[in-house]
Amino acid sequence: MNDLSVANTTIQKAFDVEAIRRDFPILSQQVNGKPLVYLDNGASAQKPLAVLDAMDRYYREMHSNVHRGAHTLGDRATTAFEGARETVRSFLNAGSTQEVIWTKGTTEAINLVANGLAPKLKAGDEILVSHMEHHANIVPWQMIAERTGAKVVPIQVTPAGELDQDSFNSLLNDRTRVLAVAHVSNVLGTINPVAEMIAQAKARGVITLLDGAQAVPHFQPDVQALDCDFYVFSSHKLFGPTGIGVLYGKAALLEEMPPYQGGGEMIERVSFERTTWNVLPYKFEAGTPAIAEAVGLAAAIDYLSSLDRAAMEAAENALLERANQLVETVPGMSVIGTAKQKVPVMSFKIDGLHPSDIGTLLDQQGIAIRTGHHCAMPLMDFYGVPGTARASFAFYNTLDEVEQLFTALQKVQRLFA
Ligand code: ALA
Repeated sequence: MNDLSVANTTIQKAFDVEAIRRDFPILSQQVNGKPLVYLDNGASAQKPLAVLDAMDRYYREMHSNVHRGAHTLGDRATTAFEGARETVRSFLNAGSTQEVIWTKGTTEAINLVANGLAPKLKAGDEILVSHMEHHANIVPWQMIAERTGAKVVPIQVTPAGELDQDSFNSLLNDRTRVLAVAHVSNVLGTINPVAEMIAQAKARGVITLLDGAQAVPHFQPDVQALDCDFYVFSSHKLFGPTGIGVLYGKAALLEEMPPYQGGGEMIERVSFERTTWNVLPYKFEAGTPAIAEAVGLAAAIDYLSSLDRAAMEAAENALLERANQLVETVPGMSVIGTAKQKVPVMSFKIDGLHPSDIGTLLDQQGIAIRTGHHCAMPLMDFYGVPGTARASFAFYNTLDEVEQLFTALQKVQRLFA
């Protein structure tokens, strides 16, 4: 073991990853006769007992509809639901719970914003996205562009997988109305310099949106410090349940935007002559919301807050460092995405091997990764690959699991060599 390995092992011990793994019951099972090594956290992360228990308790003891019932269960459900909103507000450091809107996930949140901004867009306006965006931060803008005559313009990516700041500077102009970029790339793991980009955009009055789906599982954003207009993320990647996500938006902009969907809850008064909208955040929350899921997400955030976040980040970095060290042990393996600032995500290819074959053969050894285009086809085109294999780590992964991944990759490579 070299010095770096010793240091990394020490970090993992300080973090007590084994104790943490006991909080995630799904991790201690066998898959295809082998202990599960779950390295597909970028697609969806696993849930701690705290989340399972909170949702179970909610359904056993307090379920009813929210904001409606003139009865005790209705009050309990509403208190839990609005308490969860406050937990999210605090997690993001938003100024007010009025600025925290529940959505189905990141995708719905971006669609909501794109639709809400449509009245502000006209022919010739430009929406800046980037070449490394997930389809969820491209397609909704393309749909709005088609409706309004605006144009979607991609910021270029460097070969290392960083946002090309020269490209950004040259594309930011008087026609730019919106800047919508990933805080962290789902394929490359790159942490983008979003604070600087937002400052430049703001200087020109550009509205900014950050896709935080891949950032929040690794670090806590501060929306006031970032000064973004919108920040979106999904619960299921943040160790919470599926089916719920968050749109943070600055109140002044949310006030100006029309509702996204019509129905119950989002109205103040309905008549056939004139219908008026409810106040924020309810104006954007038509229909019965995902109540148990909100409670589950809050439990996930509380669980994360109970951990030493700095130790957690150090442990995650140690996983990526160990993986980077081991790349040379697999002949023909190369990493796609070598940015200086990265979360522990490793996209890679192996000469002569199709990514889906790598995925299938790893699964036979109990190792779960994602393969394919990762909903980022423009980025695949940029790198000239049909897809990649991607190992995405979480704080509950161990150095031992990283080593198992590479031992398995060596086997796969030998099989095809
Ligand atoms: N966007 C998720 C991923 O990167 C599903 O895997």
